[in-house]
Amino acid sequence: MTETFAAVKEKVNMPDYDQAYQEFNWKDVENNFSWHETGKVNMAHEAIDRHADSWRKNKVALYYSDQQRDEKYTFRDLKLLSNQFGNVLRTIGIEKGERVFLFMPRSPELYISLLGILKNGSIAGPLFEAFMEQAVRDRLENSDAQALITTKELLPRVPYTELPHLNQIILVGEGELPENTDDITFYKYEAEMKKASRDLEIEWVDREDGMILHYTSGSTGKPKGILHVHNAMIQHYQTAKWVLDLQEEDIYWCTADPGWVTGTSYGIFGPWLNGASNLIRGGRFSPEDWYLTIEKYGVTVWLSAPTAFRRLMAVGDNVSEEYDLSSLRHILSVGEPLNAEVVHWGMKVYRLRIHDHWWMTETGGIIIANYRSMEMKPGSMGKPFPGIEAAILDDAGNELPPGQMGKLCVKAGWPSMLRAVWKNEERFNQYFPVDGWFESGDLASKDEDGYFWFGGRDDDVIQTSGERVGPFEVESKLVEHPAVAEAAVIGKPDPVRGEIIKAFVALRDGYTKTDELQEELRLFVKQGLAAHAAPREIEIRDFLPKTRSGKIMRRVLKAWDLGLPTGDLSTMEE
Ligand code: WT7
Repeated sequence: MTETFAAVKEKVNMPDYDQAYQEFNWKDVENNFSWHETGKVNMAHEAIDRHADSWRKNKVALYYSDQQRDEKYTFRDLKLLSNQFGNVLRTIGIEKGERVFLFMPRSPELYISLLGILKNGSIAGPLFEAFMEQAVRDRLENSDAQALITTKELLPRVPYTELPHLNQIILVGEGELPENTDDITFYKYEAEMKKASRDLEIEWVDREDGMILHYTSGSTGKPKGILHVHNAMIQHYQTAKWVLDLQEEDIYWCTADPGWVTGTSYGIFGPWLNGASNLIRGGRFSPEDWYLTIEKYGVTVWLSAPTAFRRLMAVGDNVSEEYDLSSLRHILSVGEPLNAEVVHWGMKVYRLRIHDHWWMTETGGIIIANYRSMEMKPGSMGKPFPGIEAAILDDAGNELPPGQMGKLCVKAGWPSMLRAVWKNEERFNQYFPVDGWFESGDLASKDEDGYFWFGGRDDDVIQTSGERVGPFEVESKLVEHPAVAEAAVIGKPDPVRGEIIKAFVALRDGYTKTDELQEELRLFVKQGLAAHAAPREIEIRDFLPKTRSGKIMRRVLKAWDLGLPTGDLSTMEE
């Protein structure tokens, strides 16, 4: 018998799961939006303007705070400000479909710009503020980004003179503008906003037109640009209603940065499509700061990641006891496996179930979830969202019986499905090896009652502190260092971070293993790529195991490292 946690009885948006699963139809969701008659759509209109033009106009849409700022914006404020930014883009000649990237820390300006980009019909490309030059270059290069919004502090990491398509840079915040070059014109955000009209003729687009580009890592190759379209709003709206259970009085806090898909789908679109008050807290994680944030704003619905919950668990319950967390009514977790142990701890300290749910950059929105109205099995990701079919398939595309681990696949055609891998049709097609099914790259099983259980990745992708890192990117950076002949990177299980990055390195002749060199290599990745991509462990070896065709066998290194059986070694070179 598996232990279960009973469904929540108080007012919940979603009806009984089985009933909802049978009766639900995506088509009906469209009636909530203005475009079901015209066919023309714009996410920013549905998320902001629609509420600004209703009785919600003076409702707070955004509470923003960090160490320096503490501000609030109503739906009307956001409508007018994003109109202004849309006009800024139009004035400097940015057109529909062009890519406009955002590279800055969380701030109201980030959210306003992103909405303005959508209102202009352009495609937004949010970049995580911790990216270093290589990571920024790869993304701006691949997307042929035309414009960038950034800050003076981050500009040195943008190799703008070497990016031929990049022509316009808008700098947010204090400071002198750099000299314009032949190809680049610099603008000041504040000055341009001041000149811009608050009235904007919004760019109405087709539901299948591009909206946002999120780069994500695979086990090989450079990061891939995953394209989502305005149509995704159907899924963002309904999943935020039923999984996040957003209601009119809620103060909702999603801790994810918009550089990652959770920070846009459920940090921007889902909550605002539902007219919810959305809290954004800048700065870094600290248990005290987070609990104080919940207390101060009276957060009711809280979405975070297992790594954060595990860190909160590690500091001890006496910390949570110092804060008034009684406003909380619903907690969610996503991004990595949520251990049953953490769910039990959550029941103890928050007296609430932590609702695990599953999806990924490519799915654009929630696919499998634990619903408040459903019985929950701690350790399980839950059941497919109504209107979605998920299955465990074998290599030939046959469904496996309950309890067996296989490929977690989703029936193609859900509203927020990726529409393209930017400039890489071949990679896009690889997601659909079996006709009609999207292959996630995760392994999972489904039990007799229809609950899904996470098994691991089917490839070498690393999930560390809730962030997805491709081993290839880290390896490529390492081999740029003069001391490194070859490198292989794996994810090593870690009780707090899920996985940590471990690098195996073979040195070039003339270099010897020292502690200083190991530290130097770590910093080399940190400063060249991103802090979260830097290996926490580096092991220097005489040689790395390879296939006869010369491919480094990461799985063998991983097995050696963990003391596990290595499996089939027939392809390994002598
Ligand atoms: C990968 C996707 C969910 C959006 C943010 C991450 C892992 C995601 C869970 C979960 C176990 C999970 C998968 C997936 N993952 N949710 N509930 N339990 N693993 O998006 O960066 O595209 O990463 O995160 O391995 O493939 P992402």
